[in-house]
Amino acid sequence: MSGLSRRSLIGAALALGACESRAQAPAAPVEIAPLRAAAPFPLGVCAQVSHIEDPDWVRLAATHFSQLTPEWEMKMEYIVRPDGSFRFDRADRLAAFARAHRMRLYCTTLVWYAQRPEGFEKLDESRTSFGRAFDAYITAVVGRYRGQAVGWDVVNEAVAEDGEGWRESLWASRLGDFDHMRRAFDVARAADPEAVLFINDYNLETIPKKLDTFQRLIERLLAAGAPVGGIGCQSHIDASLPSGVYTRTLEALARFGLPIHVSELDVSLVRAGRRPGLEARQADLYAEAMGAFLALPARQRFAFTLWGLRDKDSWLKRENGRDAPLLFDDQGRAKPAAAGLADALGALKPVGSLYGNENRAL
Ligand code: XIL
Repeated sequence: MSGLSRRSLIGAALALGACESRAQAPAAPVEIAPLRAAAPFPLGVCAQVSHIEDPDWVRLAATHFSQLTPEWEMKMEYIVRPDGSFRFDRADRLAAFARAHRMRLYCTTLVWYAQRPEGFEKLDESRTSFGRAFDAYITAVVGRYRGQAVGWDVVNEAVAEDGEGWRESLWASRLGDFDHMRRAFDVARAADPEAVLFINDYNLETIPKKLDTFQRLIERLLAAGAPVGGIGCQSHIDASLPSGVYTRTLEALARFGLPIHVSELDVSLVRAGRRPGLEARQADLYAEAMGAFLALPARQRFAFTLWGLRDKDSWLKRENGRDAPLLFDDQGRAKPAAAGLADALGALKPVGSLYGNENRAL
């Protein structure tokens, strides 16, 4: 569809969307075809157990998505109990859900500075060394989903926020700032020879120094022989991002020739200052992100993942109730953002005709 007709469809959606907040107007007139059928690569969404218990979430997710990432129940924050034992009940349920719905399973995350479970902090070193416990964790978790997981975020958010070097963490201080990363990749590889092993980070679009340090870290890991098989660009962007910046970021990451995972895309309105016109910018950014991903060589398009389904499912909305960063509204209706992304995929259905439909975009 031409940019012009997309604009008019999205514009019509925006106009109705605006009415809707004042009165209970009809649903937005945007209709999208099942996205998973239109995408020539896996389209992912993150999920929690509470989501897969919600029939509305299940219907919408199964219609549009072909890959699932557990949002937090496969992270240390849930798996590692205070006494150091592991629990996999919720991660197992999410993995079973993915199988039942013919979705690929993508797993996150093994090493993340933000998580330092009590079980590791109070490790009894006379019984188990820290390094052995680190290896045992990775071996157990990766080994459990071996054969199903298509990939793992092995190292998450390793680069300092200002791009000056790497972050400090429990893992870096105990096992070495480079060595703990290298070790995590090696142990993960031994536990699952097939899964693609990723390094994943965020704010690569907005902080040039951070993008640069991230690229240097990837080079260094590869030079050291670490089995880094893919690059994750989280893509937590906001609606103030100037056009072209996201595309250039993906192009820069793609220069390694490795598979790229757009791993956690959302487009915040609140972080952009929630001013009029942002919904249209949000739609354009979703379209740009999808267009930039489609422009990558096919063998580098690992997957394109949204960090939540409906606005009410978003971690950003939990942070600020006024945010609306995703493709579908709280009721599960496609927003202009969905129209933007669907249009880039050729999955935007025109509504109405010259011969009458109150939603026509003329
Ligand atoms: C967040 C989840 O959305 C939360 O539910 C969880 O409690 C913490 O993690 N960067 C990441 C993701 O790499 O794993 C984070 O997800 C969002 C920011």
